[in-house]
Amino acid sequence: MSRIIIFDTTLRDGEQSPGATMTSPEKLRVATALTRLGVDVIEAGFAASSPDDTRSIQRIAEELGAGVITGRKNPKPPEICSLARAIRGDIDAAWNAVKAAARPRIHLFLGTSPIHREYKLRMDRAAVLKKTREMVAYAAEYDAHIQFSAEDAGRTEPEFLYEVLEVALEAGANTLNVPDTVGYIQPEEFMELVSGVFRHVRGVGADGVFVSVHCHNDLGLATANTLAGLRGGARQAEVTINGIGERAGNTALEEVVMGLDTRREYFQSEHGGFEHGITTELLASTSRMVSRVSGMPVQPNKAIVGRNAFSHEAGIHQDGILKEQSTYEIMRPETVGVAESALVMGKHSGRHALSVRLEELGHKVPEERLAKVFVRFKDLADKKKYLTDHDLVALLGSNSGEEQQLYTLDDLQVTCGTRGMATATLTLRDPEGRPETQAAVGAGPVDAAFNAIDTIMCTGSELMRYRLEAVTEGNDALGDASVQLRTADEGTDNLQTGDARRPIYRGQGADQDVIVASARAYLAASNRILRARAKVSGGEVAEAAKKTAEKTA
Ligand code: KIV
Ligand code: ZN
Repeated sequence: MSRIIIFDTTLRDGEQSPGATMTSPEKLRVATALTRLGVDVIEAGFAASSPDDTRSIQRIAEELGAGVITGRKNPKPPEICSLARAIRGDIDAAWNAVKAAARPRIHLFLGTSPIHREYKLRMDRAAVLKKTREMVAYAAEYDAHIQFSAEDAGRTEPEFLYEVLEVALEAGANTLNVPDTVGYIQPEEFMELVSGVFRHVRGVGADGVFVSVHCHNDLGLATANTLAGLRGGARQAEVTINGIGERAGNTALEEVVMGLDTRREYFQSEHGGFEHGITTELLASTSRMVSRVSGMPVQPNKAIVGRNAFSHEAGIHQDGILKEQSTYEIMRPETVGVAESALVMGKHSGRHALSVRLEELGHKVPEERLAKVFVRFKDLADKKKYLTDHDLVALLGSNSGEEQQLYTLDDLQVTCGTRGMATATLTLRDPEGRPETQAAVGAGPVDAAFNAIDTIMCTGSELMRYRLEAVTEGNDALGDASVQLRTADEGTDNLQTGDARRPIYRGQGADQDVIVASARAYLAASNRILRARAKVSGGEVAEAAKKTAEKTA
């Protein structure tokens, strides 16, 4: 039986999905959930890309790298990893970020394909080999596990790829990663390419040398290619929760793990069997929390964790399932943590029970914040028959208390209908607790409420995305709104892609009244803008709001 190392890159490659930027406390929450899930390696970020990324990797290394929390099936502390370009400054930054972990890892990468060599790096083959040797040797001086990635391996000439990997191994790499960076390769080709690493790279196959695969989903083949890579001999799979990531995303962790488990006998007979440290019963809740924190919705028909993954609509299927579950189901929903019963809590549940359930769902809510959430929980429990896990998490909104609450919603009234413009009259409390009321018109009630918030908070932002959905079924369902705002402030450079991206601020809000839910979401995102401005200027939040107001006027 071979042990597959699950290397999770939700916080690095996953965070590169447009709009998926997470705050440092959010990253720590995701890393905690990944540790409980049992992943072996957490790629926590790309230290050299920003001071914020460095700090959040450091915090993850300090808090989770020592093994205080572990997975149910995986007792070892996760390795904490940072990405680095093949340059000294990046490697130093990566080491500084991960060194507090009991098991630190530095992951350096260099493009190897003809396209990358000619257009991106302007380096010939000899220069790529030289840089690989020098930079891997430099990284190997640190007391860390060294991983080397041949970026765009999927489009690299195989004989050159093997040469580069051999040089990296000689220079001190422990793990050799074969990425299909642009999601181009076909499964049979990839299996052949990876198995070639074992035939052509001297030293591969020895103890302590690992071969890894990292696939992207541009042609919808990421999971198929990852499984093909494991069949070709790789023993590390690089994945993200829900498959989030650059462009069409990365390989989904849940798909690989359930692929291995569901077809256990196939992998047993063909490849001697594969095992892993993932507690699959936590897959659904981890998926939901990552979706919420990253602002990336999961498509309903997504394999394993989509809302419809275990629903059977057609009569023939329902009849079959009632007679014998295996007629149309290849895995049991409980195995991946999809609860059989939707009812989890009701109006008689206490504050402690709420706190425990939220923590089980991956949301540790500080006492002060919990008091407020509990009031809303009781209020909702009075109006709604059943409260599900989805309802509880939606009630938290976009922040479970790590971020300071700034402006809060006191009251909202709207007038709308088939005649005339919609109007919203809204009262917010500012950070000092003073109420301010504003009325605004809009194309509809949601637009009017957003305009009223803008009039008070003056963030000067632009609405990029607005989404509203029912959390559960039925007339009494909670409405869950999410918004993404962008400001005209300067963008941050993404070192890996070279893009200048303007920051995106996300907010979430839930309420049975969808206009109130939308206003809460908009308010949460606007609060984040003010917090970010105060951080940049080192000043007070109220001051940041005032300055914006002056600029806008
Ligand atoms: O897709 C890719 O090539 C990467 C590398 C940095 C491993 O993300
Ligand atoms: Zn990638």
